[in-house]
Amino acid sequence: MGYLDRIRRRSRTSSVWKLYLLMLTRAPGPHERLQNGCARRKDGSITRCSALFPEQSGQFKGINGFDSGIADPAIIECKVACPADTMSIDTIIDDLNRHDYCHAPGFHGLICRDGDEEVAFKRHWERLSVDENYRNYTRRERRFLLYRFVPGQPLEIDRNTNFEPTATYDVDYTPGVNRLTYAEDSFIDSAILRQRLETDIAILGSRLVPGREYTIDVHLFRIIAEHGAVSPTTSGIHQDGLEWVFMHFIDSGNIRPVVSEIHASKGSTVPLLAQPLTDFLDTVILNDAVLYHSANAVQQANQDELAFRNMLLISFSSAR
Ligand SMILES: [Fe+2]
Repeated sequence: MGYLDRIRRRSRTSSVWKLYLLMLTRAPGPHERLQNGCARRKDGSITRCSALFPEQSGQFKGINGFDSGIADPAIIECKVACPADTMSIDTIIDDLNRHDYCHAPGFHGLICRDGDEEVAFKRHWERLSVDENYRNYTRRERRFLLYRFVPGQPLEIDRNTNFEPTATYDVDYTPGVNRLTYAEDSFIDSAILRQRLETDIAILGSRLVPGREYTIDVHLFRIIAEHGAVSPTTSGIHQDGLEWVFMHFIDSGNIRPVVSEIHASKGSTVPLLAQPLTDFLDTVILNDAVLYHSANAVQQANQDELAFRNMLLISFSSAR
């Protein structure tokens, strides 16, 4: 039995990503981890991986001097410039196991990028389109992107631009099919989005049933408030008819605090979680089949300037 098979049996996971992290974290030092990663690639066990290097303390620390290894054909890709102030993926998984939701304040640490990549990524929210179906209810802009996904297989993009929500909402909007503007290719191709999807899939891990097809909806949302108006962020305390939802904060400007809340029921008055999201990729994850969520409206802090709040929502549900 090979090294990979032994770990697979012990960990009871078929996720290549998770197995790779397990291999790396079980080795005694960063150089041994790197050698293990190279060996697995050479024997064909790993065909494609983005390599992050979490310390057993839960911090991501990268490998000094790894630049010399990037040209090594055994390594597909390696990003090492990870900040240290982050939660480990295992901490997030433990939280979800206990509560069905999780706030991951340092989630950005799981996504490695340089400053230019982050700026370019955030600029996609400056080129969204008005959400016509919600024009009466709020001032919201959006784009979206759709994947089909079977665990263990590559993501398959679906270019259908007609988004049909599975839930209905008790607000003044146009229900049914929403003809949305698709995400730009530069967004679809961005390394930040790719890492984001890989990490979200790794967090769900064995919750994603092998052989089952999933729909992954990716929504870019911008809520705008101007001229003293109040723009609702969500449709009150609600569910979206999905299974797992990852709410990633992207950016905001000139807003009064917006608090993301998780609730046990639609009529709940005391939230399970009430958390303002303020840093890039600050994230709330929840089991949408069980729990409810809400956020208060966007309002200007300074009445002379436009206010905006940009979010990236990535949701998983069994294929529709
Ligand atoms: Fe929602």
